[in-house]
Amino acid sequence: MDARKALVTGASSGIGEATALQLAGEGYSLWLTYGSRQVETEAVAEECRKLGAGDVRVSHLDQRDSASIARLVEAISEGWGSLDVLVNNGGVLPYTTIDDITEEEWDFVLQTNARGTFFLTRACLPLLREASGDRSIVNLSSLAGQVGGILAPFHYATSKAAILAISKSFARMLAPEGIRVNCVSPGFITTPMTMQLEDDMRVGLSAQVPLGSFGGPADVAWIISSLVSPKARFVTGATYDINGGVRME
Ligand SMILES: NC(=O)c1ccc[n+]([C@@H]2O[C@H](COP(=O)([O-])OP(=O)(O)OC[C@H]3O[C@@H](n4cnc5c(N)ncnc54)[C@H](OP(=O)(O)O)[C@@H]3O)[C@@H](O)[C@H]2O)c1
Repeated sequence: MDARKALVTGASSGIGEATALQLAGEGYSLWLTYGSRQVETEAVAEECRKLGAGDVRVSHLDQRDSASIARLVEAISEGWGSLDVLVNNGGVLPYTTIDDITEEEWDFVLQTNARGTFFLTRACLPLLREASGDRSIVNLSSLAGQVGGILAPFHYATSKAAILAISKSFARMLAPEGIRVNCVSPGFITTPMTMQLEDDMRVGLSAQVPLGSFGGPADVAWIISSLVSPKARFVTGATYDINGGVRME
């Protein structure tokens, strides 16, 4: 049987890297993208090959840029012709306080996180439609998109709330075609994104977590791999909390 084919964006570190490694161990073929860190992503790809992934490819993607999205989708069309799984993981979080958020930075965050998720997903639909069997998309939202920014700023929280709406809209639209769309909503996870914070801030945030610490990227990757598994065939339009108990609903 052919390996299932997954596109994972933002695979240079953190949750994207962990997701790539998790899916590699499950035998997926992987198309990994990076924004600026090619060398790191090539190293992740090499690890994926060692773990037993099928075909592993690496491409640049600037998810703010429609031409970059089009180039990626064309490369996947030529290389694979179809996709079973899309993980929209790439994102940015500048820790900027309210008075210092400029219009340019607001647009940068919304374009990267929310607009990128919408346009890449839409561009990948023909590839997902070419595949048969269970197909699904997982989008990375955030606790900040559900409850508002705790330390995360306004533009980031707004972009992640938009991703919840984008995901449910695609889920409803694509359900009749059997393409599932779900969100994961991590709380505080130790990755380069949260390592931007001062140590004492991370200690303060950990103290707010009922389970007592930040999560690790693998804690999120495992849930993503479960959601894209064909065993989750009846799960769509869902948001999966991974936050150590910070938000219980
Ligand atoms: N860490 C947390 O606590 C947490 C909590 C909730 C949600 N999340 C979400 O989880 C996702 C992964 O974040 P992470 O924590 O793993 O952080 P990370 O290690 O900093 O990863 C972010 C990834 O996004 C990529 N990226 C940034 N700008 C891009 C662009 N314009 N086009 C394409 N790719 C771009 C980066 O690529 P390069 O490095 O190659 O530039 C990097 O691979 C994000 O969507 C984030 O919002 C994280």
